[in-house]
Amino acid sequence: MNLDIVILAAGRGTRMNSNIPKVLHQIGGDSLLGHVIGTASALESEQIHIVVGYGAEQIKSEFSSQNELRWALQEQQLGTGHAVMQAMSSIDITKPEKRVLVLYGDVPLTKFSTLSKLVQQASASTLCLLTLVTENPTGLGRIVRNNAGEITAIVEEKDASEAQKQIKEINTGIMVIPAKKLNTWLNCLGNNNAQGEYYLTDVVAMAAADDYCTISAMVIDDENEVQGVNDKAQLAGLERQFQMNKAEQLLKAGVLLRDPSRIDIRGEIETGSDVEIDINALFQGRVSLGNGVKIGANVVIKDSKIAANVNILHGSTIDGAEIGEGASVGPYARIRPGTILKENTKIGNFVETKNAIIGKGSKASHLAYIGDAELGENVNIGAGTIFCNYDGVNKHKTIIGDNVFVGSNSVLVAPVTLADNTFVAAGSSINSDVPADSLAVARAKQRNISGWKRPTKK
Ligand code: UD1
Ligand code: CA
Repeated sequence: MNLDIVILAAGRGTRMNSNIPKVLHQIGGDSLLGHVIGTASALESEQIHIVVGYGAEQIKSEFSSQNELRWALQEQQLGTGHAVMQAMSSIDITKPEKRVLVLYGDVPLTKFSTLSKLVQQASASTLCLLTLVTENPTGLGRIVRNNAGEITAIVEEKDASEAQKQIKEINTGIMVIPAKKLNTWLNCLGNNNAQGEYYLTDVVAMAAADDYCTISAMVIDDENEVQGVNDKAQLAGLERQFQMNKAEQLLKAGVLLRDPSRIDIRGEIETGSDVEIDINALFQGRVSLGNGVKIGANVVIKDSKIAANVNILHGSTIDGAEIGEGASVGPYARIRPGTILKENTKIGNFVETKNAIIGKGSKASHLAYIGDAELGENVNIGAGTIFCNYDGVNKHKTIIGDNVFVGSNSVLVAPVTLADNTFVAAGSSINSDVPADSLAVARAKQRNISGWKRPTKK
């Protein structure tokens, strides 16, 4: 161990054109800072420090459940060196082997494996930089090397000479620094530079001048891992990259994606074997898909468990539900929280369910609302049936036994119970319980008036 991590997140992010602090903007359903904290937490460290400034309270409250995080306040953003300084008082520099890993809160896609390698290369006497060789170094700090190839300094674009601007190796900002030396160097930083800031990057020249310190660089190939977010275009770009990474993982796991560029995962997805996902599916929160599940086009699934061999047809939305083996949902069904569909159920087009348990083999094939209900096995809910669960003040429950048939366009006014084997005539308005094995007819009698003429237009 002997590692502390400092995440810099005090900047405002003016170019985001937003009132939300930059690091709270999201990628894949999690904030930029959330991604960085997630990766940092996977590394073995003694403490994670986060330096906040702009929007500090809002950012802290977003992570208030994570008690292990240590917050440092940088009231004025006087530079990256000044930012790291704000965390130093809570880092134990008396431990000789202690190192500090610096991360940025707006660089979300760095891989655990990359950081872990970088940390292993650093020691109490080695400063280790993560660098990138790029054709487009504009705006970034350049890595200056001497004739022997040794790193001697980092120079910021605004302070660079024309010759230095030609350097293609840039500072990603991510580095590991021996803690005790870092503390000494930070105290020597000045702000006599083009931006009048205390640059963290200036410690590199100090390390180069230190006889007891060596500098090493780990050059990364994947630009996306070190790409920061400064504006909405970069946010959108990294979102796509994040989604492509997720899609690749799914393909590798054997999931059939009809188009890997048209799937969005904002959370965690677990998949069984032979899962097929059509275009434009969106997954949010925690979703699990069992073996042989088929997801149609334009389906949204949030926080739900989908058992084996379920077919979700296009245009359906599923939220907070459990879908049993072999069930079929949609097209255009809306399954709301608290829905449990047992095995081999069928919920068809324009059917909405909420807080409803639907027994094995039961069906509602078209145009129905099923709310606050318990249905037994092999029930058939006819087209246009409405479960009236709300009396304008309170919600009530409808209980339906096994083998019940509810005719089309019926209204079931809760609280009401239909016992086993009952049959409700089409167009009925049911507001009292129906005993087992009986037919309920609750509608006005039809009259036929013979010889009736339509009114004529005046
Ligand atoms: C910095 C590096 C540059 C590197 C680039 C990579 C310095 C001096 N320069 O430049 O070499 O190529 O990152 O993107 O370090 N921050 C604070 N407090 C501050 C200033 C910044 O917390 O006072 C945070 C920002 O919120 C951001 C990070 O530090 O997360 C980097 O700041 P930014 O202004 O983007 O640094 P650059 O000038 O781009
Ligand atoms: Ca930046």
